[in-house]
Amino acid sequence: MAQTEAPAQGESSRQTATLHAYGKARHSPTLRGIHVHAGHGFLLSQFLSPLFNRRDDGYGGSVEARCRIVLRVVDEVRRAVGPSYPIGIKINSTDKLEGGLTEDDALEVVRLIGQTSVDLIDISGGTYFPGAKASSDGVSDSGPYFLDFARRAKGTTNVPLMLTGGFERREQAVDAVASGAVDMVSLARGMVLNPQLAKFWLTEDGGDPEFPIFEAPPRGGVTAWYTMRLTALGEDREHTFSLDPQSALRAYEERDAQRCIKWREKFSHLAESDRRLR
Ligand SMILES: Cc1cc2nc3c(=O)[nH]c(=O)nc-3n(C[C@H](O)[C@H](O)[C@H](O)COP(=O)(O)O)c2cc1C
Repeated sequence: MAQTEAPAQGESSRQTATLHAYGKARHSPTLRGIHVHAGHGFLLSQFLSPLFNRRDDGYGGSVEARCRIVLRVVDEVRRAVGPSYPIGIKINSTDKLEGGLTEDDALEVVRLIGQTSVDLIDISGGTYFPGAKASSDGVSDSGPYFLDFARRAKGTTNVPLMLTGGFERREQAVDAVASGAVDMVSLARGMVLNPQLAKFWLTEDGGDPEFPIFEAPPRGGVTAWYTMRLTALGEDREHTFSLDPQSALRAYEERDAQRCIKWREKFSHLAESDRRLR
């Protein structure tokens, strides 16, 4: 396990609280492992990105410094779950934002994370941020979005790599693994279309899902459509699911508004303790 040193400057109580939160990770008999999310613009991803991370302490500046919190989180989670419990981590190959993480920086992140005790590095990209491009934007033809990056990343680490984003046909997944670029592929939309897809693709005649084509969907409509279909799957009513992107977006936004009310009520005490930590 890579031991990261103590911060050069005093660690704030907010940082300590953040690390402790990750250290609450638990070995669970019902879950098969832990996947740390350091991609898509969430907290750890923001630390990695020079666009968001403007810190001038030991956690900002060079790519090593920006990566430091991520390495400490991995160590903290490992300490909590023990030596043999699987830990994966998702990172961005690109933020898809001007001034964000560069591909060279992301390669260095892979190399640094590869020196920790993680069992799997999941390569993805994109940022949940207003105005940010979708992870599929700028990809010349349909297919895995970050395959070229993964090929380069393979040369920087011995930790198994997984690739996320853009797999629509079995052949693409087989090729990605057979070429040695990655060790595994991950599926999101494909599994929403067919939750049995991973099992289907283990055999040659497994078949490919039919990806719907939406004519001029509203912004956010496609994600909302997949999300509401996922909800329908969870409630065993996918056979009657018939929303179009526009109505899916409306349903999704209404549900979010309701959830925000509940979350604000439930977590108001955290906002208070966060204020005290500042
Ligand atoms: C219904 C749905 C929900 C998703 N939710 C999240 C999420 O909560 N957090 C996240 O980082 N990515 C989320 N994603 C993005 C996926 O993890 C993945 O990066 C993206 O869909 C590309 O993979 P795909 O081409 O296999 O769909 C979601 C995707 C879908 C389809």
